Amino acid sequence: MRPENRYLLALYASPRRRGNTSLLLDSLVEGAGEAGVEAVSFRVAEMDIRPCRGCEACSRDGECVQRDDMQAIYPHLERAGAVALAAPIFSMHICAQAKALIDRCQRFWALTYVLGKHPVDDGLAARRRGLFISCCGRDAPETFECTRPTVAYFFHVIRVKDWDSQTYAGVDAAGEIRKVTGALQRAAGWGRSLRDWGSGAP
Ligand SMILES: Cc1cc2nc3c(=O)[nH]c(=O)nc-3n(C[C@H](O)[C@H](O)[C@H](O)COP(=O)(O)O)c2cc1C
Repeated sequence: MRPENRYLLALYASPRRRGNTSLLLDSLVEGAGEAGVEAVSFRVAEMDIRPCRGCEACSRDGECVQRDDMQAIYPHLERAGAVALAAPIFSMHICAQAKALIDRCQRFWALTYVLGKHPVDDGLAARRRGLFISCCGRDAPETFECTRPTVAYFFHVIRVKDWDSQTYAGVDAAGEIRKVTGALQRAAGWGRSLRDWGSGAP
């Protein structure tokens, strides 16, 4: 992992600042810090990230024409050695804030499959890691099944092959995740595991 890529991109998509997915991602970031890996964090729900317009301009030059806060996240989606997305379930899918961000990754799809480019360096892509964090109120783990293709698509277009998820059902009120034995520790453990990136090239 090159030094410039040796950091974690932490995407907080819940509008609840002290909500369950945010607490899990906080723990992950803390764990990464213990492993000497810094995080660049974005509060996605507080940013101006508009939905994709489907204009297909990115199929011409790989750029998104919308000049909003997504422009600040794009370079990190290209460079970060690890990407963690924390998004709760709203109306049986990931929250709209996370979905808007994923839809705006259409420019990565266009760069790869229309323009034949490599928006993420091949060496980095081979070693990049990802984690999807989610919670839902219903005590029904199958709720997360519908998120899987969308999250898989997200990690695919930003070229993260090695990704995993940590999801918790039956967690509703803000902060309830603290009562789930081992949940915050598990997230921290994933962060700490980034220590294993090693220091060799690429
Ligand atoms: C608008 C909205 C829609 C929700 N829809 C669902 C749902 O369809 N299924 C479910 O199990 N929980 C649903 N929930 C509950 C949240 O998934 C749950 O409170 C979760 O812990 C929120 O995570 P957060 O604290 O990180 O925001 C919904 C909550 C909100 C605010």
